[in-house]
Amino acid sequence: MMRIGKFIATVAIIVGLLPAWSIAMKQRMNKSIPKELFGKTADGQDVNIYTLTNSKGAEARIMTYGGIVVSLKVPDKNGKLGDIVLGHDDLAGYTKDNSPYFGALIGRYGNRIGHGKFSLDGHEYTLPKNNGENTLHGGNKGFDKAIWKAQESNGKDGPVLTLSYLSKDGEEGFPGNLSVTVVYTLTNNNELKIDYSAKTDKTTVVNLTHHSYFNLAGGGKILDHEVMINADKFTPTDEGLIPTGDLALVKGTPMDFTKSTKVGARIGDEFKQLKLANGYDHNWVLNKDKDKMTHAATVYESTSGRVMDVYTTEPGIQFYTGNFLDGTIIGKGGIAYQQRTGLCLETQHYPDSPNKPSFPSTTLKPGQKYSTTTIYKFSTR
Ligand code: GLA
Repeated sequence: MMRIGKFIATVAIIVGLLPAWSIAMKQRMNKSIPKELFGKTADGQDVNIYTLTNSKGAEARIMTYGGIVVSLKVPDKNGKLGDIVLGHDDLAGYTKDNSPYFGALIGRYGNRIGHGKFSLDGHEYTLPKNNGENTLHGGNKGFDKAIWKAQESNGKDGPVLTLSYLSKDGEEGFPGNLSVTVVYTLTNNNELKIDYSAKTDKTTVVNLTHHSYFNLAGGGKILDHEVMINADKFTPTDEGLIPTGDLALVKGTPMDFTKSTKVGARIGDEFKQLKLANGYDHNWVLNKDKDKMTHAATVYESTSGRVMDVYTTEPGIQFYTGNFLDGTIIGKGGIAYQQRTGLCLETQHYPDSPNKPSFPSTTLKPGQKYSTTTIYKFSTR
């Protein structure tokens, strides 16, 4: 009897202590992912920032406003860490109207939808036109301006920040309640891995991407960065940067990045597509097998020795050379961001796919799961 009583008491003590033990374990596991208040939005909502540090010392700071990567520190060829993304020192910089999507998660539809319209199941949807005649990056209040729910954890590959957001039926004109999850992992291999997933309760369109402006030198123009894009074709556009629907060969044009080439080598060429966009701001059609993860691009900067490789399950990539930056935005450390001081490699489905039946589909139906992955891998040479 006594022994049974003792046994029950011991079990009770252990069970009683379990919650405290599990909290202690959790705290220990998350010790390397500090969370701080970064600021408050104009309507008084808290915005937190999380610092992810991997086993090699690389660091990504990500905030709940827009899921924005505020800073990303990776080593140069001498092992010295440097911040290689454009952005601001405080929240106020990001919430201004002229913010060019620095470091943000983009949705519900990344890139452009022509004339702010598309049809699905015989119903025409109208979106806000926030880029001339067209809709850009999800409309007036895209996912880059949403406050995401965040949960930090330590995954087997490195520190993880899981962000989630419910985009309500009708938000910015899009149909269906879209429940979105984005998982950022700063792997111990010096990769920023982004897993996107989404579900809807009504047929809708989805095209999620990430909009960091990279500068592997940590400052100055990106014209000497060398870029390789694994694509034989791109989607030429009209003057509003809406694809014509054609897939044009890059061969023999300044759009050919199949061999690593300096950004500035041909950016000023008399080539209609470059004149229309005032530089590179186009979607490349990646050479790949369906939605398998493939090597999409490599960027190399010789003074720092930094290399960035981009891998993705997506069929396209928007290569944008910061053509619209004009020195009016004051960024980190009080620096005015001049034209071409950052470059974006936005993995995606092609722009205006909802109106281009020949392009890979961006339609998501109830019961289906949207799921894509992109990896930005950093190393040195
Ligand atoms: C994308 C677009 C560009 C520009 C930037 C943000 O890269 O393709 O035209 O709008 O976003 O300024």
